[in-house]
Amino acid sequence: MDQTELILNEIKKQVLSCDKCTLCVNRINAVPGEGSCNAAIMFVGEAPGANEDKQGRPFIGQAGKLLDKLLAMISLQREDVFITNIAKCRPPQNRVPAKEEIEACRPYLMAQISAIKPKVIVPLGSPSVKTLLGSSFTIGGVHGKLQIKEGIRYLPMYHPAAYLHKRSPDLLEAMKNDFKELKKLSSQLG
Ligand code: URA
Ligand code: SF4
Repeated sequence: MDQTELILNEIKKQVLSCDKCTLCVNRINAVPGEGSCNAAIMFVGEAPGANEDKQGRPFIGQAGKLLDKLLAMISLQREDVFITNIAKCRPPQNRVPAKEEIEACRPYLMAQISAIKPKVIVPLGSPSVKTLLGSSFTIGGVHGKLQIKEGIRYLPMYHPAAYLHKRSPDLLEAMKNDFKELKKLSSQLG
C-alpha cells in the first residue's frame, strides 16, 4: 500500500466514526468518498443522499448515473477519478448542509486533497463552489472556467442533480461542454 492509500484509509476511518457535527445523529453510513488514490481529477459534490447514506458510497443514485455517463463521454470511469462531497453525512430531507456542518467537515476534504494532490478539482454545484472557492463565486458565473486558488486548479461544474431537477436541454448542453473542457484541460496537463 502506498503512502497516499494509507492516508486515505486513515481519513476514511476517522470519517466513519466522526461526531464533529449533528449530521452524525441521523446517518446510516458516513460517505468518505472513493476512487483512485492517484486520481488526476477529483469531483466534490454536496452531501450524500438517501442511496449514498444506505450504502456508504458517493454518487450511486440518479445523479451518480448521470455523472457516470458524463465521465464515459470523455472516456473515463469512476475508478479513474476520486469522488467525494463537502459534507460526508446525509443532511435530513437532503437539505443543503449548514455552514457549521460544512466547516466541521472541511478538514477531511482538505486532507483528501492534500493526500491525492489532483491536477484539477471539479466542484459540483453551488455549495461546493462556495466552499472551495469562496462565497462570492456563483456556479452560473464560473462553471467550465478554470480557476486557480492557492496553486490548486478548479474547474467548477453544475451539479448533475440540477439537470435531473430542471430537465433543461440547455443545462445538459452546458454540462457536456464543461466535461469536454475538462478533457481538454486534463490532456494539456498530461
Ligand atoms: N449528490 C451529491 O452531492 N453527492 C452524492 O454523493 C450524491 C448526490
Ligand atoms: Fe463528521 Fe462530516 Fe459527518 Fe459532520 S458531516 S459528522 S463533520 S463526517
